Amino acid sequence: MVINLSGIADAILSGESLIGEQPFGVVLADDLCINPDGPGVLAQMAQLYKQFRCSIVAVMEVPEDQVHKYGVIAGQTISDDLIRVETMVEKPAREDAPSNLAIIGRYILTPDIFDLIRNTQPGKGGEIQITDALMAQAQRGCVLAYKFKGRRFDCGSIEGFIEATNYCYDKLYAR
Ligand code: G1P
Repeated sequence: MVINLSGIADAILSGESLIGEQPFGVVLADDLCINPDGPGVLAQMAQLYKQFRCSIVAVMEVPEDQVHKYGVIAGQTISDDLIRVETMVEKPAREDAPSNLAIIGRYILTPDIFDLIRNTQPGKGGEIQITDALMAQAQRGCVLAYKFKGRRFDCGSIEGFIEATNYCYDKLYAR
């Protein structure tokens, strides 16, 4: 069987028949998120979902010279750790970034995202971007960005992978 996938959004779409009409979580495995003092990041977001019933993306502040690696959001502040998304840009140049709040690979998505993905044209890098589908969702209804509690490691980079390995060794095994 040949599966043609183009970007995260297309990968998410391939799960539609398994998910059906329910909200679901997406974990990008190269982002390792650890919250040693409480619930994991997706669990924190699932809790928020019960209150707001809309799609939620995890975000964290990154240095301005790093924004080009991420989807970047801006919007209306709801509370210290919650923003209603008004703008979302996939991997903007530093000068075009709406903020330094970067999307990290944890999402809660409502199932209307599938139709929005189907209507999303290839974007950055020629891929169908979940960031673009979420921007459409934010314009029609509501998408929240959540500044999660915990640490994130970029295991897609060698330094991040080594940092994560050392952190987990210290936290979990070397006690
Ligand atoms: C993906 C998303 C991006 C997000 C990032 C988090 O990019 O497209 O919006 O900020 O994951 O790690 P990728 O790292 O797959 O290029």
